Amino acid sequence: MKLEGKVALVTGSSQGIGQSIAVRLAAEGANVVIDYRSHPEGAEETLAKVQAAGGKCIMAQCPNSQGYIIKADLGIVSDVRRMVEESIAHFGKLDILVNNAGIERHAPFWDVTEADYDAVMNVNLKGVFFAAQEMVKHLIESNRTGKIINISSVHEELPFPNFTAYCASKGGMKMLTRNLAVELGPLGITVNNVAPGAIETPINTKLLNDPEKLGALLKNIPLGRLGQPQDVASLVAFLASVDADYITGATFFVDGGLLWNYQEQ
Ligand code: BGC
Repeated sequence: MKLEGKVALVTGSSQGIGQSIAVRLAAEGANVVIDYRSHPEGAEETLAKVQAAGGKCIMAQCPNSQGYIIKADLGIVSDVRRMVEESIAHFGKLDILVNNAGIERHAPFWDVTEADYDAVMNVNLKGVFFAAQEMVKHLIESNRTGKIINISSVHEELPFPNFTAYCASKGGMKMLTRNLAVELGPLGITVNNVAPGAIETPINTKLLNDPEKLGALLKNIPLGRLGQPQDVASLVAFLASVDADYITGATFFVDGGLLWNYQEQ
């Protein structure tokens, strides 16, 4: 078990990739704060899975990982700060922050509303910025090191027409990670991005139900399948562990080869 005695906060963990990360970190022995905005039933499901994963053990080696649910809207800074404070108050500290919550809105550039732009940028970038800030203040106060892992996207590099605000938020996340890696390195705090490609989760429901679009996408993925949330969670577990102590400022793609698959016909 890589994460025994650690406390992790996983934002947006009531479904999809976030849920899988929460469960995987618990299986590695961490206590996990589960955050949700609009799916309390999903958060309860994650909690049950976290407790079950933590309980899967042989006698004395049982990590007995605990979960704790917090409702917060990552687009509202006061909510973000409360979420981090409440996590620390509940488990006594925070070692690992996984900024997973993210949203996207599909619209041609000329139709994007200010409200859609704000929703995407606030959750995907502003929330990440201030969650990291709150975590860093806590680590400085308690004189400890820690790990920040941001769930980005292949679209921190790759254009995605009709999703310009989303791409801008992930491109921003890329520079946020590089900047923080340099600024926080001397404090022993590492910051890395995990950048998934097409993963089978609720964010992709429309695509999954459109056989034509899905077929075209699969042709672009060298490994020939969509990713599963566990494909992402296993990398996060590694980055959260001491095995990754010397890694910071990096982006790791979990995309079946999608990003670099340009082929001239
Ligand atoms: C987006 C998905 C998209 C995938 C691959 C992800 O970042 O959230 O909607 O299918 O990238 O393009």
